[in-house]
Amino acid sequence: LSRETFPKGFVFGTATSAYQVEGMASKEGRGPSIWDDFIKRNPEVIANNGTAEVSVDQYHRYKEDIDIMSSFNFDAYRFSISWSRIFPNGTGEVNWKGVEYYNKLIDSLVQRGIIPYANLYHYDLPLALELRYNGLLSRNVVKDFADYAEFCFKTFGDRVKNWMTFNEPRVVSALGYDNGFFAPARCSKEYGNCTAGNSGTEPYIVTHNLLLSHAAAVRRYRLKYQQKQKGRIGILLDFVWYENLTRSREDNYAAQRSRDFHLGWFLDPLVYGKYPKTIEEIVGNRLPKFTQKEVILVKGSFDFIGINQYTTYYMFHQLNKPKVPGYQQDWNAGFAYAKNGIPVGPRAYSYWLYDVPWGMYKTLTYIKERYGNPTVVVSENGMDYPGNVTFPKALYDTKRVNFYKGYLTQLKKAVDDGANVVGYFAWSLLDNFEWRLGYTSRFGIVYVDYKTLKRTPKLSAYWFKKLLTKKKQ
Ligand code: GCO
Repeated sequence: LSRETFPKGFVFGTATSAYQVEGMASKEGRGPSIWDDFIKRNPEVIANNGTAEVSVDQYHRYKEDIDIMSSFNFDAYRFSISWSRIFPNGTGEVNWKGVEYYNKLIDSLVQRGIIPYANLYHYDLPLALELRYNGLLSRNVVKDFADYAEFCFKTFGDRVKNWMTFNEPRVVSALGYDNGFFAPARCSKEYGNCTAGNSGTEPYIVTHNLLLSHAAAVRRYRLKYQQKQKGRIGILLDFVWYENLTRSREDNYAAQRSRDFHLGWFLDPLVYGKYPKTIEEIVGNRLPKFTQKEVILVKGSFDFIGINQYTTYYMFHQLNKPKVPGYQQDWNAGFAYAKNGIPVGPRAYSYWLYDVPWGMYKTLTYIKERYGNPTVVVSENGMDYPGNVTFPKALYDTKRVNFYKGYLTQLKKAVDDGANVVGYFAWSLLDNFEWRLGYTSRFGIVYVDYKTLKRTPKLSAYWFKKLLTKKKQ
């Protein structure tokens, strides 16, 4: 494996998100997001009562971080813009300090020859919009998101040529509105400790509004900015590869249903202008319908698709329905982490993450075959170690090196078999705030000492450095 093994122009980068790395969450004019509110009201939901107030302080240390990217031979950096740092109230008045921060970040990237990939939304809805009209549950968000996106295109688009609208919108709908694991933590009251919601309808409404918001932003970009700025725009979808546990019809159907409820929920509308048949059949009249006008807006509203791929599960047909009504029940998911006692792959620290390189190959060839071979960027991939690994032992992340080696080998195999994959981003550049796990999970290829905020590259960073060495012509 070397840079030359990949197609010419293939881009390698690392990824982060604003809330997970910036810090200065309540400072420099930034307005609160639904995550700040969630954590403030329920500090105990984050491991060790962690907060993102300081995180790894990229707000002040971006230059140092960009130096690392550059000296480790990366081509690109995927970051996100915090909506409420630009518009503290979601709409209206601009926080120019926030604009200045992103201008400096982007300028420094460009100066160091690192290509900026800017994502507009990574879970951090301005709290003001949640309070004003229930946030993503309301159609109002479509225009407000498009206005915010347009402000970014206009302000940063002379330098940012790669835009992404939403990160993992499925996670937003499912974890925010079905099981209540993520902000705004709405879910049916049977789930227990979350705000009353309706898991049977809200995730579907939110997905619909997310797709329309995405499409509205893309439309603005295409109408007013794309030609002049010569950039491209996409969306970031998370996907788990679901392999049928046995060859029975039931297990086959369970695996396909999972792919539909996970990826198809978004990618079918984006490519074909409608929800997958399985979802239509199972969800019935609880599923919002696209009007003719919406179909035209949503269908084809991307230049590339980002895929966050980490893991693989075996699926089997499950007879026992979960007790709680909602998205998960509609899907009726039966996950099997092991097959005949053999684990699907070694587990990382996070309970959901198994090291299964061939899942990357299956994912990429599935997208190629089912969705007409769109341009794909693997926008996240990586594994975590527990947060309490001792220093300097934490620097010898050989399992992570092995993980990256395995997944990139399979990615390359998919490319050889015709998958149109043009880039790859490791999650993550730095150890950072891992949502509910706080600082107890470390995904970085660079170690961060949370007391001093000192960065130290791990073995995996050196592995990438070697992989990405440019041969002299
Ligand atoms: C995402 C992810 C990231 C996580 C990473 C590891 O939505 O892109 O949730 O923010 O940190 O996937 O879990």
